[in-house]
Amino acid sequence: MLQEDERIMRIGVLTGGGDCPGLNAVIRAVVRKGVATYGHEFVGFRDGWKGPLEGLSRPLGIADVRGILPRGGTILGSSRTNPFKIENGVERIKDNLAEQGVDALIAIGGEDTLGVATKLFELGVHVVGVPKTIDNDLGATDYTFGFDTAVNIAMEAIDRLHTTAESHHRTLVVEVMGRHAGWIALHAGLAGGANVILLPERQFDVDQVAGYVEKRFQHQYAPIVVVAEGAQPLDGQMVLANQELDSFGHVRLGGIGQWLAEQLEAKTGKEARTVVLGHIQRGGTPTAFDRVLATRLGLQAIDAVNDGDWGKMVAMQSTDIVRVPLAEATRELKTVPLERYAEAEVFFGS
Ligand code: F6P
Repeated sequence: MLQEDERIMRIGVLTGGGDCPGLNAVIRAVVRKGVATYGHEFVGFRDGWKGPLEGLSRPLGIADVRGILPRGGTILGSSRTNPFKIENGVERIKDNLAEQGVDALIAIGGEDTLGVATKLFELGVHVVGVPKTIDNDLGATDYTFGFDTAVNIAMEAIDRLHTTAESHHRTLVVEVMGRHAGWIALHAGLAGGANVILLPERQFDVDQVAGYVEKRFQHQYAPIVVVAEGAQPLDGQMVLANQELDSFGHVRLGGIGQWLAEQLEAKTGKEARTVVLGHIQRGGTPTAFDRVLATRLGLQAIDAVNDGDWGKMVAMQSTDIVRVPLAEATRELKTVPLERYAEAEVFFGS
C-alpha cells in the first residue's frame, strides 16, 4: 500500500565490482518496496560506475525485477570502473545524474565500488551503499551476501575431492578465491574437513604443510589442502595470473595452488594435483541465507534513501540490519583474526 509521501524520488541503482549471488535479490527488494511503499521511480545504471559515468541506463520497474530473486549475476551488469581515474569523472557523473533527473543513488558493491560511493557522498552526491562480496571482507558488517553461496560451493567441491583423493592416494590442493582475506578458505575448509587451510592473513611454511600432508597419509587418508588465492609462503610473494593492474590497482591472482602442489609432491613423494575453483564460486543461484540477507539489506537501503540518510551503508550486525557511515565501513578490510585461524589449526595434519 502506498504511503502518504511529500516527495517522490527518481533513484538510480548500480552494481559494481566482482559479481556475486544475491545482487538481483537486492535490486528486487529495493524496487519492490520503493515503488509499492513509497511510490519512487527507478533507473538501472549499467555496468557499475560506468553507467552514471557514460549515462548508460535502463528502465527498472516492478516488471523488470519479477523472477530475478534466485538468479545469480546482476541484471544491471558490472564493471571495475573507477571514475576517480577518469578525467572529469565526478563532473560527468553529476551531469548525467542531473540530465536523467536522478535524485539519489543506491550503489551495491564491495570495497572499491563503495570506496567511490564514499568519496562521491563527500562531494555532494546523494548515495546509500549496500555491501556485497563473496570475500566477506567488508568492514562494519558481520556478513556480506554471496559469501555463504561461495562457501557452500567450495565445501561441496571439497566433499567430492575427498572421495577421489582417497581412491588415488593423492594430495588434492583446492585454490579458492580470497584476495586479501581468507574467509572463504577458512569456512569452506572447516566445513569440508580440510587437512590444512592457508590464508592471506598468515604466511605459511611449506615444510610444515608437507609435514601435515605426510601425517595424513600415515593415518591412511588422503589430504585436502585448501589455499586462498592470496596466500603466500614465508619469504615468498603472492602468485599472480598476470602483471596487469585494474583501475583500483588490484593485480589478478592465481597460481598459488599449482605452485604448492608441485612443492608438496617434491617434498612428500606423493602425487599432488590442483583444482582451481575460480568463478564457479561467484556464479549461479544464491543460497537461502544469501537471498534473505540480500533482501533485508535492499529493504533497509530503500528506507535509508527515503529518509534522506545519505552517506550510509546498510550492514548486518548480529541479526539486525543497521545503517553505518560509508566512511567507517570502507576504512579498512575485515580480515580473518588469527584466533579464528587457530580454531582451524586444531585439525591440521590429523
Ligand atoms: O572480490 C571478489 C573476487 O572474487 C576476489 O576473490 C577475486 O580476487 C576477484 O574478485 C577476481 O576478480 P575478477 O573476476 O575481476 O578477476
